[in-house]
Amino acid sequence: MNKKKILIFGRTGQLGWELQRTLTPLGKVDAFGPDELDLMNLQALERLILDLKPDLILNASAYTAVDRAEEERDVAMRINAEVPGVMAAAARTVGAVLIHYSTDYVFDGKKGSAYTEADAVNPLNVYGQSKLNGEQAIGQVGGAHVILRTSWVYSVGSGGFVSKILSWARQQETMRIVTDQVGSPTWARMLAEASAAMIARSLLDGSGYFSARSGVFHLGGLGSVSRYDFTREVLRLDPNPEGQVVRRIVPALTDEFPTPARRPLVTPLDCSRFEETFGVSLPPWEHALRLAMGK
Ligand SMILES: NC(=O)c1ccc[n+]([C@@H]2O[C@H](COP(=O)([O-])OP(=O)(O)OC[C@H]3O[C@@H](n4cnc5c(N)ncnc54)[C@H](OP(=O)(O)O)[C@@H]3O)[C@@H](O)[C@H]2O)c1
Repeated sequence: MNKKKILIFGRTGQLGWELQRTLTPLGKVDAFGPDELDLMNLQALERLILDLKPDLILNASAYTAVDRAEEERDVAMRINAEVPGVMAAAARTVGAVLIHYSTDYVFDGKKGSAYTEADAVNPLNVYGQSKLNGEQAIGQVGGAHVILRTSWVYSVGSGGFVSKILSWARQQETMRIVTDQVGSPTWARMLAEASAAMIARSLLDGSGYFSARSGVFHLGGLGSVSRYDFTREVLRLDPNPEGQVVRRIVPALTDEFPTPARRPLVTPLDCSRFEETFGVSLPPWEHALRLAMGK
């Protein structure tokens, strides 16, 4: 069997690092981070893809600083909207499939229950708008692609909400955590493994697999939880609880913490379309968190 050439962008991020680890058995992996290629340089990005001629491109890179994006609109738009469009066009030229990651922040959070892919989008902030523009840029190119919208991505050790909780709990006796933000926490490793399972299935089916299934899919931890209840569960599962100094976790509301970017409040994802289309089962968020915490 010919080894597939897999190109990953965002290798230093939470997801990019896990993708490198997880996809290595599936082909020859080349992974790029900001040290190897600054994605602000669109010509260099296009040249790289045309030269390497990968079979698969996974774009785990993104401008993820939600509040800073309100001030750095141009940079957020370049990385989250223009870059995916350039990747999609170059991928189409070389016959590669583009797998791209997007966000629950394309929604306004007002539905009150889990979002499906058929629900109307309405981003509340620059980050969400830039990610939505990226989805649309890929769709307009029309090559083989899969857009995976995920949410509340965490890894243990660096990045994401879980690392923040573990760090706050070691510094503060009282933690105030919002009860009105509800979502689907997603372990970066689970996201990478579900992506790998989807890709493995495509390898068995042969070419045309992704062309026949191109589109947007939701992929996150199954179920939903508030940031407050999630925090309590993270602290309960903390592998080193003796390091905690926190005594009280006080319920709070998002409005009590003014931030430059407005955030959608209730954005759990309904992932059944992904599970049914690709034959991949996703774990409930509680199960993934327990594994992530080594329990
Ligand atoms: N984190 C979340 O809660 C969350 C929620 C929903 C959706 N998502 C989506 O999930 C995907 C993965 O997120 P993540 O949490 O793994 O992101 P992350 O940890 O912030 O990683 C983003 C990656 O993009 C790279 N990058 C940013 N600007 C670049 C540039 N100019 N040139 C080259 N590389 C650049 C970063 O490099 P550096 O090492 O310099 O930072 C990093 O490797 C993204 O599409 C994100 O939008 C994330």
